[in-house]
Amino acid sequence: MPGGNTRHSIALAPYPIYAASGSGCRVTDVEGDQRLDFLNNYTSLILGHADPQVTAAVQRRVALGTAFTMPTPEDVELAELLAARVPYVDQVRFCNSGSEAVMLCVKAARAFTGRHKIAKFEGAYHGLYDYVAVSEGPNSDEWGESDSPRSVIEPGTPPSVAEDVVVLPWNRLDVCRERITQHGDELAAVIFDPMPLGIGMIAARPGFLEFLREETARYGILLIADEVLNFRLSYRGAADAFGIQPDLGSFAKIIGGGFPVGAVGGSRQVMSVFDHTRSLKVHHGGTFNANPVTVTAGLETMRQMTPEAYQRLNGLGDYIRDRLRRMFHDRQLPAQVCGKGSLFLAHLTAEELIDYRSLRGFSRTNPVYGDLCHQMLNRGIIVSPRGVFGCLSTPMTEAELDAFVDALDQSLAQLALR
Ligand SMILES: Cc1ncc(COP(=O)(O)O)c(C=O)c1O
Repeated sequence: MPGGNTRHSIALAPYPIYAASGSGCRVTDVEGDQRLDFLNNYTSLILGHADPQVTAAVQRRVALGTAFTMPTPEDVELAELLAARVPYVDQVRFCNSGSEAVMLCVKAARAFTGRHKIAKFEGAYHGLYDYVAVSEGPNSDEWGESDSPRSVIEPGTPPSVAEDVVVLPWNRLDVCRERITQHGDELAAVIFDPMPLGIGMIAARPGFLEFLREETARYGILLIADEVLNFRLSYRGAADAFGIQPDLGSFAKIIGGGFPVGAVGGSRQVMSVFDHTRSLKVHHGGTFNANPVTVTAGLETMRQMTPEAYQRLNGLGDYIRDRLRRMFHDRQLPAQVCGKGSLFLAHLTAEELIDYRSLRGFSRTNPVYGDLCHQMLNRGIIVSPRGVFGCLSTPMTEAELDAFVDALDQSLAQLALR
């Protein structure tokens, strides 16, 4: 495999640790070492590993066949569950990844509006689709002016893609207003993630998301919420947790209960672009869409995630964010802790963080995070090499969170970071 892996996000120098098994919030590697898992397959396992009820439901389902050229009752049940929980979702279509879900949202918005450009935030990650991958992690020499960020493409992307994507700076309301006004009648959609990991989970400034909602509505632009990662924030999802009502949403990760999944959801009117009984506008195939194994695992997982389960898990999130802040304070280490619900991200700087550019030097490119990751792995904690980023799972208790904070405290001391 080129680079020795088949997924850039799990590359680890000098080589990755290979997993043998997982149970609850612990993973055992092929050498028999056990660690606490604070990444949970990059946030997709909200119940942790090998939840007994999910495992039993999947085993039952596998014995009945795993793939058909027919729908199954389970896919209707998962669609109904999502539509019942997410306020702006009347209808759902399933696919196999978050990238596909985002792509389908963008295509739906184009078909619905008859326009083809989209706008996205500089630094935000939305998966592999060419158009949303524009400027997902540009270097400072590629940025362009702060009031007109360049559309930066990666090798392998046709230059014409850049012409169809307007890049916006997170939290810079005036610049966003100007850019959206300038391209108002060309834009099919603005895509946003209310707490974007690629932009360090920097919180939206008060009124910023409301501004996006109003401004897009003014120009007939669809607002797409990328809920792939942040759907885990609440029972009704991410947009609702921030009080926003978008037109379309992309979903994945936790709704597949540990299996590959994606879904697009939105109002009946917008979703009608996928309805084959009307004049078909957006073709949507996919051999394994809504396969019964994924939807069974997803259903069992989402059913366990009751409002009470979210409340408990998010309470643990408050606990660890608070403990991290106190630990940094006691060490007199300039730092700030971002995140919400079951997610946290600590930046080792006291400088004001507002957008992607303000993260320069403190984001994934800073080698200190790779060093910290190795320190944490050696102390029995799985964390990202690209930042002190973590996500919780329901099997965790305060004891595991204390272990995380203590290991980070010792790692910082070892690296002489005060
Ligand atoms: C916000 C966001 N959107 C889209 C994606 C792409 O999802 P997938 O990896 O399932 O294709 C991710 C993946 O991490 C994500 O975090």
